[in-house]
Amino acid sequence: MIARRLHTAESSVRTPPPLEHGGRLREAAARYRIPVPDWLDLSTGINPDGWPVPEVPGTAWARLPEEDDGLEETAALCYGAPGLLPVAGSQAAIQALPDLRMPGRVGVPTVGYQEHAQAWQRAGHTLVRLADGAPGGDHGAGLDDLDVLVVINPNNPTGRRWSVSTLLDWHARLAARGGWLLVDEAFMDTTPRDSLAPYTDRPGLIVLRSLGKFYGLAGVRVGFVLATADLRVALHARLGPWALSGPARHVARLALTDSPWQEATRASLRRASARLAGLLSDDGLVPTGGTELFQWVCTLEAPAIQDRLARQGILVRRFDAPSSLRFGLPGDEAGWARLKSGLCCPALYPPADAFRQAVGETPDRYFSSAAPTLASASAPVPGTLTGVSR
Ligand SMILES: Cc1ncc(COP(=O)(O)O)c(C=O)c1O
Repeated sequence: MIARRLHTAESSVRTPPPLEHGGRLREAAARYRIPVPDWLDLSTGINPDGWPVPEVPGTAWARLPEEDDGLEETAALCYGAPGLLPVAGSQAAIQALPDLRMPGRVGVPTVGYQEHAQAWQRAGHTLVRLADGAPGGDHGAGLDDLDVLVVINPNNPTGRRWSVSTLLDWHARLAARGGWLLVDEAFMDTTPRDSLAPYTDRPGLIVLRSLGKFYGLAGVRVGFVLATADLRVALHARLGPWALSGPARHVARLALTDSPWQEATRASLRRASARLAGLLSDDGLVPTGGTELFQWVCTLEAPAIQDRLARQGILVRRFDAPSSLRFGLPGDEAGWARLKSGLCCPALYPPADAFRQAVGETPDRYFSSAAPTLASASAPVPGTLTGVSR
């Protein structure tokens, strides 16, 4: 009986291929045959100097988590939100929210965190790909064709931002027809004044927050859904009890209360991001966009530059459309020095044969010891996205 059920389930399951993300250090280590501890991982937008996690009390490990431990109140106060639901990373909400609506037309950014598009499509909705992430420019001309609009603010990797007033206008137009505006604010903690959190008691406005980026706590898997009570109840029912572990709730509550750390971190990330933009520009890689946690560089030479850095044990995230690279922040002076020399030095590590085959490129072009110098390899396209789909 069980076997038959499984068989039926298997034959009806259509699993989309997993999407590519930054942070796959083990994969890079195997490809380039460089041990994991030797890498400088700049492939994510995670704060490398995250909130210092204290010892977690034994009860947090041993007891079932309880929802009246103050986490919800602390987070609501920190974000300035009327009410919220903790989830196991905002990814959990990204995957579950599409099932709470009848299939409709959903606007998603062409360039942006692609898990949104995949989740809505998987749930049977029709995707409307929005160049620049906006429904017909800042005036939202295409909005009236949509049931749901997904905005990543600021966008990852482009760094594009939308003002509170523009987003509230778009929300009002969608909500008047029973639509939703879903705003992913995973990178908003550095600029809390630009958040829509205070308005999330408005029906049809949903904001996602994450502890993974600014707090540097990606491993603990904590995020929040800021929305009206009925939507939170529906999502909670779908995700089930104990969505967050006891240690995750404990750590999240303390991190969200630590306003001195938050203030100091906003300032230090601003400085670090400006430093990164300057360092890249000095080497001819003028950022096209960015946030306090990463810089994004459009260049047709992205594959060659990524490979050349990887051969020196420096991992950056590459995107194909548009051809671009995202650089996260180095965590210490050694990392900054390594990135600087990596951008201008020839590769130190020999390439892995397996990787040559995987990418299907001629060894001579990308892997010979006569690798192109940065000046010849990178012809950055400062401030433009010529010839790319955006
Ligand atoms: C824009 C954006 N939203 C959401 C997420 C998911 O983050 P988490 O599930 O760790 O909260 C990511 C992760 O990279 C992201 O880049």
